[in-house]
Amino acid sequence: RRRARKPIRVYMDGCFDLTHFGHANALRQAKACGDVLVVGLVPDAEIRRCKGPPVLNDAERLAVVESCKWVDEMILDVPYDINEQFMNELWHKHKIDYIVHGDDPCLLPDGSDAYAAPKREGRFKTIKRTEGVSTTDIVGRMLSASKAAENDLAKTPGSKSPFKKSKKSAVVEDVAEPAKKEHFCTTSRRVLQFSDGGKKPSDEDVVVYVHGAFDTFHAGHVDLLKSARALGTFVIVGVHDDAAVSSYAGAHYPILNVNERSLGVMACRHADEVIIGAPEVVTRDLLATFNVAFVVAEDSAARSPNAPAPAPPADPNAVPRALGIFREIKRGDGPGADITTKEIVSRIVENRAAF
Ligand code: CTP
Repeated sequence: RRRARKPIRVYMDGCFDLTHFGHANALRQAKACGDVLVVGLVPDAEIRRCKGPPVLNDAERLAVVESCKWVDEMILDVPYDINEQFMNELWHKHKIDYIVHGDDPCLLPDGSDAYAAPKREGRFKTIKRTEGVSTTDIVGRMLSASKAAENDLAKTPGSKSPFKKSKKSAVVEDVAEPAKKEHFCTTSRRVLQFSDGGKKPSDEDVVVYVHGAFDTFHAGHVDLLKSARALGTFVIVGVHDDAAVSSYAGAHYPILNVNERSLGVMACRHADEVIIGAPEVVTRDLLATFNVAFVVAEDSAARSPNAPAPAPPADPNAVPRALGIFREIKRGDGPGADITTKEIVSRIVENRAAF
């Protein structure tokens, strides 16, 4: 009889700021390099020291990375660079076999390679970096969106900006680039990889349908999906199409297009299946097709005060409400769970010089 092979433990570290599906794709590939994926999350103070302040704080970044379905274990408070001492801790304390990172150069403030030590030991592997998405790109899209929104408002007499004025307001003028939303090419193969081949509910499953924009997938979304999971056994997530999101969040939303937003949700362990481009209004047809037991959405108080009134029909959940299967979820009190996409945009607009 063959002896069971010792599981291969791989380590990937990172800042995972504005955690996006490019990060998720890196984690997916890292997991495929071994059996157990251990992720090191670089803390705020260390990011600030090495490359400037992150947009999302420790708790907000942790919630999303931890919820990624390819992540098995997490180590917090890791250094930005793999120094000799920490590398030995990885080998001996955490029993790591390989350190994995994207194939982009990762330099320290002094210009040296952050992964020089594990490279010397021959225990470093690279995965292919995902083109067409990055934290910097998302920051750029958010600045473009807020700039376009400000311009629209300037044309409307008596209107008030939804964003707090920054001392550096004038810098916004520099962002002449229009928002690039078709940047990333979502392929059928990528969808297959992210959905792990796809799951199907069994007859015994209690199907919960949760729907929304899920723009720039964040800790608040993770919290919502967890609440949905608590109501049943199989969670179907309806990711609204781009037109629906623009209609209720504002003309310059969503920041990520429907395919990108769907990939963000698919990477989350609390989502079993995703409808890529769901209608905003929940119909009887949809409930029957997916054998839905409960419909979940965020409570309306969490909607942006600046969002226009919903287009008719005023209540997208009128059908499940009438059937008594609608459950309104309040923003959880878990760490970072009160974050919203608009809050992220506001932070970026207010501190744009720093990012
Ligand atoms: N990564 C990737 N594809 C991207 C962005 C990041 O494969 N589009 C990988 C990085 O190479 C790294 C891991 O994700 O292995 C964590 O990335 P992070 O430390 O957040 O670094 P950045 O490269 O700075 O990510 P970004 O450019 O998005 O800020």
